[in-house]
Amino acid sequence: MTEKKAVSAEVPKETPVLKAVHLGISFGGLKAVDDFNMEIGRSELVGLIGPNGAGKTTVFNLLTGVYKPTEGAFYLNGKKMNGRKTYQVVEEGIARTFQNIRLFKKMTVLENVKVAMNKDMHYSPLASIFRTNSFWREEHDTDERAMELLDIVGLGDKKDAMAMNLPYGQQRKLEIARALGTNMRLLLLDEPAAGMNPVETDELLDIINNIRRTFGISVLLIEHDMSLVMRVCERIQVIDYGVTIAKGTPEEIAHNPRVIEAYLGKQAEKEVLNMKDASGHVIGEEGSAAAADAEPDKAEKPDETAGAGTPNR
Ligand SMILES: Nc1ncnc2c1ncn2[C@@H]1O[C@H](COP(=O)(O)OP(=O)(O)OP(=O)(O)O)[C@@H](O)[C@H]1O
Ligand SMILES: [Mg+2]
Repeated sequence: MTEKKAVSAEVPKETPVLKAVHLGISFGGLKAVDDFNMEIGRSELVGLIGPNGAGKTTVFNLLTGVYKPTEGAFYLNGKKMNGRKTYQVVEEGIARTFQNIRLFKKMTVLENVKVAMNKDMHYSPLASIFRTNSFWREEHDTDERAMELLDIVGLGDKKDAMAMNLPYGQQRKLEIARALGTNMRLLLLDEPAAGMNPVETDELLDIINNIRRTFGISVLLIEHDMSLVMRVCERIQVIDYGVTIAKGTPEEIAHNPRVIEAYLGKQAEKEVLNMKDASGHVIGEEGSAAAADAEPDKAEKPDETAGAGTPNR
């Protein structure tokens, strides 16, 4: 594996990779995200869940400089990021995948990853025109690294396929490989399991764990598929109508009455309790029913009935 360049290598270990403080944004009269607080340490894997329209993707848009917060602040590796443009946030080591897949559809799988890695290439425009030795050396290194990333997401044998011809689940994996190409410290995944079958979701779980082991990065995961969230996340934050209604371990979240009412629903709750968490422990066992760190009740919640395994969708 090629050694990854450290982003802000001088940052002390205890500095959180991400810190959001009272972060918020309003669209017209609507507070899409309100008083959002979150801290993610190195190599931590945190879940962000909640019903449709809760404000999850908006959080990602705030953290990546797509939207400017109307309240609060956020820090990456201790640096205040308010008002920074997306490319500046990316330089600080944040990368994301999109809920609506964004790939160069008419490029090959390998080219898609190489384009994402492009900012790390150092040859001059002249070198690329005249195809100098430094150009070929850099091309070769980039190819090799892009192939490593494709192997990590299980797409090594698809490198020459056109991105648009990949099945949906594989396009999502390609998005992850592209995000890895940017030398990130914090990976934001927006519904990576959407459209995947259970086998692909299991593969995705292995990929996420493998990425953390290989790169030592932190991950913030938005996902409706509880079979993934509960098995992979160490901590989970639940938002509803832009407001955080609970924070806790998978076990605490699965038992939290407010989360069950707003999001999981009774049926899905039963399924979640039978799942295993990241350490292999059955979530519902020993019936600890630990109350999650719920915040004051600020939001009205609709009385929705959850579909099996796919809460309130
Ligand atoms: N640019 C915008 N202008 C106006 N309203 C917006 C904008 N972006 C998001 N919203 C609103 O903010 C709220 C939160 O939307 P968001 O997409 O963050 O939800 P979500 O939790 O990601 O939902 P889903 O699970 O369906 O993806 C919604 O009411 C949405 O309509
Ligand atoms: Mg969303």
